[in-house]
Amino acid sequence: MSKEINTIGVLTSGGDAPGMNAAIRAVVRTAIANGKKVKGIRRGYSGLLEEDIIDMDSKSVADIIQRGGTILYTARSAEFRKEEGKQKAVEICKKHGIDGLVVIGGDGSFKGAQRLAELGINTVGIPGTIDLDIACTEYTVGFDTAVNTAMECIDKIRDTSTSHERCSIIEVMGRSAGYIALWCGIANGAEDILIPERYDHDEQRIINNIIAKRKVGKTHHIIVNAEGIGDSYGMAKRIEEATGIETRATIIGHVQRGGSPTCKDRVYASAMGAKAAEILCNGGSNRVVGYRHGEFVDYDFNEGLAMTKDIDAYMYDMAKKLSRS
Ligand code: F6P
Repeated sequence: MSKEINTIGVLTSGGDAPGMNAAIRAVVRTAIANGKKVKGIRRGYSGLLEEDIIDMDSKSVADIIQRGGTILYTARSAEFRKEEGKQKAVEICKKHGIDGLVVIGGDGSFKGAQRLAELGINTVGIPGTIDLDIACTEYTVGFDTAVNTAMECIDKIRDTSTSHERCSIIEVMGRSAGYIALWCGIANGAEDILIPERYDHDEQRIINNIIAKRKVGKTHHIIVNAEGIGDSYGMAKRIEEATGIETRATIIGHVQRGGSPTCKDRVYASAMGAKAAEILCNGGSNRVVGYRHGEFVDYDFNEGLAMTKDIDAYMYDMAKKLSRS
């Protein structure tokens, strides 16, 4: 059932991601072009519950497309997770005349948006996370920038690792998703890629691999660890003890979440922002925007949130084959 709306709110929620500003800009400018008013909600759902709401116009999103982070700030809200928090959020939206809402974030944020839609606020989600772990889309805002940042860091570590003929463990972000690790593992020619979706906890195999590679003349050994594997420093110590090869661990950390978005993140985030605003302007609700099979698409939240995805088996197997020499 479609409902005409007058005012679109936009918020960013959960971990920030480069390209979120491009998405905000596109939401604001598309809504204005369609004759709607726009309100920015600062600090995600937490800010919504605190009525941290500002009027936005075309000028408020000037000069932000190239900036990392999110001009609206972001947060995780324990209060909003509760049903009473969601009911309160609806009352606040009504008080401020917000009848359509764009939520830029991950699955957890979308579940909140889905409930708001049931409670009468038209909502649309845009996948914003560096982790790429949203099932209904092959692209999430920020992944491309994050993976390029991590790749550049690993290139640098590789230089010093080779000079010292060391083994290097580099931990990239991804608590439960190994996409950044897998992509960097391939792009940086890592000898081993450890991801939560596939890790078998066989450290002896990793040690044997290092020794075997050293015997055939490899002067460095790069292991890319996803954050979810954990204990990179402990692993480095155990590897050094077992192999006699100097081993260092580097946790790249939040460097991956910042920085100027890549061209892809700017363009795709813009397309998704525009699409989200158009859906609301056309009376749509309870939708999540995605990118699949070469197209920008949208799904009902129920359908999108029910989807599952796993690491691409071809990519994972290919990475393993290429690191075998
Ligand atoms: O979801 C994005 C992400 O960067 C994950 O890769 C990471 O595990 C997590 O957020 C870190 O969250 P925080 O910034 O709250 O420590």
